[in-house]
Amino acid sequence: LKDVRICAIHVVIPSLYVDQTDLERYDRVFEGKYTVGLGQKQMGFCTDLEDANSLCLTAVSQLIENNGISYSDIGRLEVGTETITDKSKSAKTVLMKLFEASGNFQVEGIDMTNACYGGTAALFNALSWTESSAWDGRLAVVVAADIAVYAKGNARPTGGAGAVAMLIGPGASLVVDRGLRGTYMNHVYDFYKPDLSSEYPVVDGKLSVDCYLTTLDRCYESYLSKCRGGDVGLNRFDSFVFHAPYCKLVRKSLARLYMNDFVHDAGGKNENHQHQDWADAEKKFTEPSLLLASRVGNTYTASVYSGLASYLLSVPPERLPGKRIGVFFYGSGLASSMFSIKVVDNGCLSGLIINLEKGVKRLDERTRLTPEQFANVLEFRQKSLHRAPYVPVGDRSQLFPGTWFLSGIDEMHRRRNFDL
Ligand code: ACO
Repeated sequence: LKDVRICAIHVVIPSLYVDQTDLERYDRVFEGKYTVGLGQKQMGFCTDLEDANSLCLTAVSQLIENNGISYSDIGRLEVGTETITDKSKSAKTVLMKLFEASGNFQVEGIDMTNACYGGTAALFNALSWTESSAWDGRLAVVVAADIAVYAKGNARPTGGAGAVAMLIGPGASLVVDRGLRGTYMNHVYDFYKPDLSSEYPVVDGKLSVDCYLTTLDRCYESYLSKCRGGDVGLNRFDSFVFHAPYCKLVRKSLARLYMNDFVHDAGGKNENHQHQDWADAEKKFTEPSLLLASRVGNTYTASVYSGLASYLLSVPPERLPGKRIGVFFYGSGLASSMFSIKVVDNGCLSGLIINLEKGVKRLDERTRLTPEQFANVLEFRQKSLHRAPYVPVGDRSQLFPGTWFLSGIDEMHRRRNFDL
């Protein structure tokens, strides 16, 4: 298949959140540090009732249901996550539980694990399968899910949680540009999880931000070197979706691309946008993609696809066809890529948007907890993470309908998941 597309996107948002202004007061930092300095409004989080596996189960089951397809229509299922719940047993194998009733066990794909980059690696695998001789004509599903939690300190307000599931196949509205990818990978200890019994990373925050911005330069350079003719700078794009550890970094990233264009613009091709008002540029390129990042926080492997979902919902549907969206992804350790998506109007766009709204409307249905309650939940998660046998104590009545949750872990560490 030559024309591989994203046919549908479904976003899963935690039912609980903490407000970042409340957190500023609780952490006794100067007013505005999290809300202005990091650009965050709220942060989603999960109790011990949810883990990366249950987020994946919720995302995939709701994607299939909302789009009216059968589990037997799926020929490949890719999971992108940086959470290794059962280490040698993948989240993909847990998801096969959903396929049992359909009798479809012929489903390729397995987990792609790396800080934040796993979701993009999973997407690239699904695209490659669909373009290859191994493709059997069925759809691929990509799901990215993580719970981003940090130890007490500077990094904690940049947490979040969530999942995004995507359907990949022919004939849809989001076309992934062929042959246009920039990638940069290297060995750096900026963020990693050497303690397998803890959800918290060891993080060198400043180094990770430096790495993010440096790899952005490299990926942009590599992506642009593959463009033939026409615009070879930001003018190529109508919007840019960046991996969003926090919203301020996304704004800095846009500025960085402008700087790159300025430095490389020997022929003056990008004169128009160099003279464009900065506020207008931010409004056009990044603001529409920050809805979920600002109100849910970092979702690690799902982050950039939450940004894509936010963009698609923030622009009036009639203005979407013809738009080209740049996508940049950074994973610590480090792994980064840039690619682009073109929106086409083939009659499928309105269905995609309607289904997308079903997940995102949950933003306004969440329960706001206090920073004390949030801190207690995190402390409890940390203490109980690998206990067996174990029965979660979180309040099921706070979960959204249709959510898969962890009902218990037995003495052999076997996890039981059910849906509400
Ligand atoms: N009002 C307004 N702005 C403020 C205020 C205030 N009261 N106080 C501080 N600020 C600004 C600072 O000037 C700074 O702005 P700048 O970035 O434009 O310089 C910003 O808020 C952040 O403040 P710092 O003191 O620099 O940040 P801090 O040391 O608290 O840590 C960091 C920030 C490093 C991002 C930390 O939250 C972290 O480690 N996060 C996790 C790592 C991360 O997200 N890495 C990114 C890529 S990797 C990944 O996705 C995990």
